[in-house]
Amino acid sequence: MDTFAFIIHPIDPKRDISRKYPLLGKIATKWMIDNISPLWPPVLVSEIDGITSASSGKEIKGWFVACPLTPAHILQLPEKAVYRKIIETGHLAEKLGANILGLGAFTSVVGDAGQTIARALEVPVTTGDSYTVAVAVQAVLSAAEMLGIRLEHANVAVVGATGAIGSVCAELMAESAAGLILIGRREAALEDLRQKIMLERPERSGSLHVTTSTDLSALREAQLILTVTIAVHDIIEPDFLRPGSVVCDVARPRNISAQIAAARDDVLVIDGGMVDVPGPVDFHFDFGFPAGKAFACMAETMALALEGRFEDYTLGKELSRDRVKEITAMAEKHGFRLSGFRSFEKPVHEETIERVRKKALANLL
Ligand SMILES: NC(=O)c1ccc[n+]([C@@H]2O[C@H](COP(=O)([O-])OP(=O)(O)OC[C@H]3O[C@@H](n4cnc5c(N)ncnc54)[C@H](OP(=O)(O)O)[C@@H]3O)[C@@H](O)[C@H]2O)c1
Repeated sequence: MDTFAFIIHPIDPKRDISRKYPLLGKIATKWMIDNISPLWPPVLVSEIDGITSASSGKEIKGWFVACPLTPAHILQLPEKAVYRKIIETGHLAEKLGANILGLGAFTSVVGDAGQTIARALEVPVTTGDSYTVAVAVQAVLSAAEMLGIRLEHANVAVVGATGAIGSVCAELMAESAAGLILIGRREAALEDLRQKIMLERPERSGSLHVTTSTDLSALREAQLILTVTIAVHDIIEPDFLRPGSVVCDVARPRNISAQIAAARDDVLVIDGGMVDVPGPVDFHFDFGFPAGKAFACMAETMALALEGRFEDYTLGKELSRDRVKEITAMAEKHGFRLSGFRSFEKPVHEETIERVRKKALANLL
């Protein structure tokens, strides 16, 4: 049977450690997590079975393997030490017999986004970022449709627009949005992206308005927001948001907190990057999603295994729009689909959407 492995790591350390070791999660202090977890060896978290292609009927098996580093460790420890730990986790995947390895959350962000890791391993590697882009864009577009926001009249903001995922999301949104607001921390890099987008879309020179900002309050101009930074704490404040807007938060850790979202019940905040997995999948591990659903980056790894494409796939910070299209077609062929909307891991019901629509209308009047 063809196989895959996917590297996860603690994002909310106490919560995530408890998911595998309930007792340790209870007693672990911040000091222990900060100082002892980097010394911990990689962990086999669970075996994954039941993933079955909707088109070929092929079934695959996989494993979650955990790299014991938090987002703060990955950003702050020397890059070499972080690579070493991720590569060690990759070796565990190789020992298990994985045919392809996916890099979850911040393990795909560090350094050159998987290239050094792939060179050090025998097993082919993918970050999963191509399908993450596709699913994030699909989620924003379908939320817009539900709220009656027409893209050709809307301003779309991308927060973290200079990043690997953010830049391609912005390029794709430029196909039909009226306005694009590119938000990041580096003015020159934002301006380079703005010019690239304008050059790539000469046919839209009269209808697409692209601006840049290093100030998050520029979000007030946007009806649709896709946020995908690697900030370790939430960065979006309630008064940055416009009534009736949609925020699709693809970042892990999140860029918007549940408290902030609750303070703005006239805004729809949705989790980015969740897909339905084909077949009676059992992850044998609760990573916070309901049964049968996975992150898009996990789904990219699974789709490649179902397709038998055992090669390095999405690597590096420059993603290709062709790869985004190819993995979307491959994933859809095998039965992966954008999942229903969820907000902070809870389903978004039709009543919530109706309430946002009404509140937004009242607040705009
Ligand atoms: N949901 C999923 O399935 C899924 C899959 C893969 C990745 N992800 C998540 O996607 C996020 C981005 O990944 P990526 O590969 O695109 O990362 P990346 O290439 O490193 O880009 C990160 C972006 O975040 C910006 N940034 C960093 N720190 C910031 C701060 N404190 N405030 C504001 N902006 C900040 C960076 O700006 P500068 O250019 O100024 O540094 C850059 O634009 C991560 O949170 C990752 O966990 C989610």
